[in-house]
Amino acid sequence: MALTPSLSAEVNVPIESERDIVIARQRGRELARMLGFSSTDQALLATAISEVARNIVIYAQKGTVLLRGLDEGGRRGLLISAEDHGPGIEDPAAAMRDGYSTGTGLGLGLPGAKRLVDEFELESKCGVGTTVTMKKWSQ
Ligand SMILES: Nc1ncnc2c1ncn2[C@@H]1O[C@H](COP(=O)(O)OP(=O)(O)O)[C@@H](O)[C@H]1O
Ligand SMILES: [Mg+2]
Repeated sequence: MALTPSLSAEVNVPIESERDIVIARQRGRELARMLGFSSTDQALLATAISEVARNIVIYAQKGTVLLRGLDEGGRRGLLISAEDHGPGIEDPAAAMRDGYSTGTGLGLGLPGAKRLVDEFELESKCGVGTTVTMKKWSQ
């Protein structure tokens, strides 16, 4: 049977300004609602999306946030993939520690986002770029 439109939905949000962060947040929240996430989870997902989108604007200037509904063996979830071709992260392990920031932030964005989702992967290479992939399951 074909997937319902909500489950196959995919949204690609170009990110280069504060306004785009708001759009990514809203689209993520909408998609999470369609996928059956609780309103609490919708808010947590919107927060995780904001953090990675904000990192793109601050550290890489531009990139994209991909949002996709997942249906794996009856499990529904949301995939969030934030990708940029910015400077990359010199020490990705350090970047995952609470309080580590090379800027003026609190250094809680990446470790905080990780705590809000079920699966989290940071891939980054200096001079190549950064991809953060997160998944959260609704049931
Ligand atoms: N997309 C990115 N490109 C380059 N560096 C990044 C990116 N995202 C995060 N970083 C690096 O990882 C560090 C930690 O990020 P984060 O946990 O969000 O804290 P903060 O943004 O408050 O510094 C940042 O200070 C920055 O050095
Ligand atoms: Mg941050």
